[in-house]
Amino acid sequence: MFRTIVHTFGPPDEVVVDEAYEPPVPGPGQVRIRMLLASINPSDLVTISGAYRSRTPLPFVPGFEGVGVVESVGAGVPELLVGQRVLPLGSAGAWQDMKVTEERWCFPVPPDFTDQQAAMGYINPLSAWMMVRQYAPVPPAPVAVNAATSAIGQMIIRMLNRVGVRPIALVRRPDSQEQLMGQLGVLAVLCTSEVGLRRRLHELSGGRGLAVAWDAVGGTEGDELARALGPGGTLVHYGLLSGTPLSPRLRDECPEARIVLFRLRDWVHTTERHTLQRALNEVFQLVRDGTAASKVAGFPLSAIRQALECEATSGREGKVLLSMSSDAKITQFEPCSRYTSSSIAVSAECTNS
Ligand SMILES: NC(=O)c1ccc[n+]([C@@H]2O[C@H](COP(=O)([O-])OP(=O)(O)OC[C@H]3O[C@@H](n4cnc5c(N)ncnc54)[C@H](OP(=O)(O)O)[C@@H]3O)[C@@H](O)[C@H]2O)c1
Repeated sequence: MFRTIVHTFGPPDEVVVDEAYEPPVPGPGQVRIRMLLASINPSDLVTISGAYRSRTPLPFVPGFEGVGVVESVGAGVPELLVGQRVLPLGSAGAWQDMKVTEERWCFPVPPDFTDQQAAMGYINPLSAWMMVRQYAPVPPAPVAVNAATSAIGQMIIRMLNRVGVRPIALVRRPDSQEQLMGQLGVLAVLCTSEVGLRRRLHELSGGRGLAVAWDAVGGTEGDELARALGPGGTLVHYGLLSGTPLSPRLRDECPEARIVLFRLRDWVHTTERHTLQRALNEVFQLVRDGTAASKVAGFPLSAIRQALECEATSGREGKVLLSMSSDAKITQFEPCSRYTSSSIAVSAECTNS
């Protein structure tokens, strides 16, 4: 069996190594899962870099999201589970051939889901859905989404479109402006390096300031978004793509703004299983109809270095998936552009790039 492992925190391309290993036998209440596909998410990279070192004992196998098949069960777990496709949530360890984990953290995959849909059907879709459900204002209140080329940024935009909201999309690369404009239901696409960005945001919000802004970047970009809020506006801060936190002075600078931090992990680890299952069922429907879908690039687990290189490439389109099994097919597909109730089309095979 083969796995990736991190013995010391640091840059992912330097510290993620691979090795042969003998997977343990599942203990009481545990299952052993033959992993099929796993995603590479920014939260994996942040964990590998050591940002959460107080709650991450070394060594560890990375990967918070993936899909696999139950291969054997420990004492107290029904044999019936063997052969079932599941999402093992709540812990790292997806980037390996076999993951041993608690049965209570395994959620069944709908039979109509492809392995690929399942491998990307949890972190981004559920986070986007929770943040839109909780904070989307009644249209035509002005809203903005930054890092709009990211997988979750695009999901948030499509989910807002479903409730009749056309956000202002912010991107860091000027060449992604036209591409996004054609694909998503947005009021405008602005580049964050544009001179007079705050004035443009003010104009586009009809002089009212933004009602809500979703921030995956933090740092000066997140600060600017908070400053563009109107009275009583909300900044939903959920990512740190810049690697820099929001300014500690922001709350004093924008006393009328509400700054909320969203972390899926906090919700998942304090929620009853049946509530989580119900939320997943709703989100799976959005994965099916393309609202919460992403483009992909696939690599075998043995090519972890190339996969991490691809993940770090600017302008990369879609999620990077790791494949543990030759049975797990990775197909390239287009998420729906504007929201329609039709299913997404599965088209040509994706080549490993
Ligand atoms: N809080 C939570 O619970 C939660 C849940 C899910 C995701 N997230 C966060 O959401 C963010 C996006 O995740 P994802 O899976 O959608 O990532 P992703 O698809 O890998 O997208 C990242 C993209 O964002 C753009 N980007 C990178 N750095 C940027 C920067 N400094 N400023 C603006 N854009 C930048 C890049 O696109 P271009 O190269 O095209 O510019 C990059 O390809 C991450 O920070 C992640 O941790 C948080």
